[in-house]
Amino acid sequence: MTLNVIPKPNTVEYFGGECWAKENKITYKENEFYPDEYYCIEITDGETIITTKGEKGRYYAQLTLDQIYEMGKVPLCKIIDLPAYPYRGFMIDSARHMQSIDEIKAYISAAAKYKFNTFHWHLCDDQGFRIEIEKYPELNKKASWRYGHGFGNGNMSKYGGFYTKEEIKDVVAFCKERYIDVIPEIDMPGHSTAVIAAYPELSCNGKEIPVQTKAGIFKDILCAGNEDVYKFCCDIIDEVIELFPYEYFHIGGDEAPKARWCQCEKCQKKIREENLKNEEELQGYFSNRIIEHLKSKGKKAIAWNESLNSGLVDGETVISQWMDKQHKCEEYANKGGKIIAEEFYHYYLDYEYGMTPLKKTYSYNPIGSDKFDYIGKRNVIGVESPVWTEYIEDFDRMSYMCFPRLIAVAETGWTLEKYKDYESFKIRVKGEKDFLKSLGITMADEKCWDPDNGTRFEVMRDRLKSILDPDMIRATLFPNKND
Ligand code: ACM
Ligand code: ZN
Repeated sequence: MTLNVIPKPNTVEYFGGECWAKENKITYKENEFYPDEYYCIEITDGETIITTKGEKGRYYAQLTLDQIYEMGKVPLCKIIDLPAYPYRGFMIDSARHMQSIDEIKAYISAAAKYKFNTFHWHLCDDQGFRIEIEKYPELNKKASWRYGHGFGNGNMSKYGGFYTKEEIKDVVAFCKERYIDVIPEIDMPGHSTAVIAAYPELSCNGKEIPVQTKAGIFKDILCAGNEDVYKFCCDIIDEVIELFPYEYFHIGGDEAPKARWCQCEKCQKKIREENLKNEEELQGYFSNRIIEHLKSKGKKAIAWNESLNSGLVDGETVISQWMDKQHKCEEYANKGGKIIAEEFYHYYLDYEYGMTPLKKTYSYNPIGSDKFDYIGKRNVIGVESPVWTEYIEDFDRMSYMCFPRLIAVAETGWTLEKYKDYESFKIRVKGEKDFLKSLGITMADEKCWDPDNGTRFEVMRDRLKSILDPDMIRATLFPNKND
């Protein structure tokens, strides 16, 4: 008999024999030299000894023990466990479609069971601004609302809302009880249509535009030549960080087309004044101004990997590696920069199982690229799986898309690559159905997890009607052994 625990504990030594662990006396011991998240559980006949540095390790030990208790009779054993990566995140896009606070808490509760420790909350995008801001009231009056509910599905009714500061505090407190840090994302300078709809003077041309109702990458971005934009962004950050008492703040930085900056006198003047080579370097300058402000408040920045394109970004910035064909992330990590693996083809949970089967998500090795050197591998601080919600309107769809794939990411975040085992994972994860159901989460049925290549082809063909990305076609038609 082996332990039925997710994520799989890293080392388990079996002594032979079994006991009813639930009836054991528990003894807690402390060892100040252990890392915070480390725990050791020794199950003998009659006593369970838990040794940790302190509370956090004890919390993780208890999560493991709760799953062991579910087994009834368990093998006598000693578990020595420590996560593979210090950063184990999940991201929810609440901008394209909002989730209720109860739904967000249900998702957090599930993630907590699988030992995630970071909730990255994507709070604004072209289609909506979702956090209460007092200093700029038009954000909640205008930027939080759009006239178009379902991303081109014909429903043009008003859609939107925002989370109040009280609601955010409630979620942060809920996470704190589960040792989960919450990182807000205010995406800038791109994905800012909603902000510009509320404050058109912050764009390069000042034109009035509506909050977007469709998916995509949009040209109207914040003007990097306008000092009012920097003041606006810093003011927003100052209000937002009051609610999130953690080290990191995500500043976005993805998908910022430069068309408007090329045409804008203010942006061009800034490029000349700051001796920058081009608009890409202007984005580097923009990011560094924001990062400097964060530093002045004692915070560190996380940014999507496009932020590396300028070659200028502050080296303390942690990079969310999501789509990096030029391997800038590996280069950054090899030089000492920190990286979080959020790889599009494996970890984006809003893509169908036909594109990203469970096995593909499970098998991803965040440090598997041969472009990493020894130092680079050590600078991959963890994993994160985003769920983008352009096409995820309700919690049932979100549950289906994210479970069990999110649990696969949890296992990679916790269990060392050499101990991962997909066949064992599948057996263990099947048993999670009832727990998830108790949270209101209906996991995808097993028959959906790993579609055959024919089914995958059908799914991809439908997708490709709107997205013609040759890499995606290749990934589907020529899946390699690990895919
Ligand atoms: C992203 O998917 N644009 C980070
Ligand atoms: Zn401009």
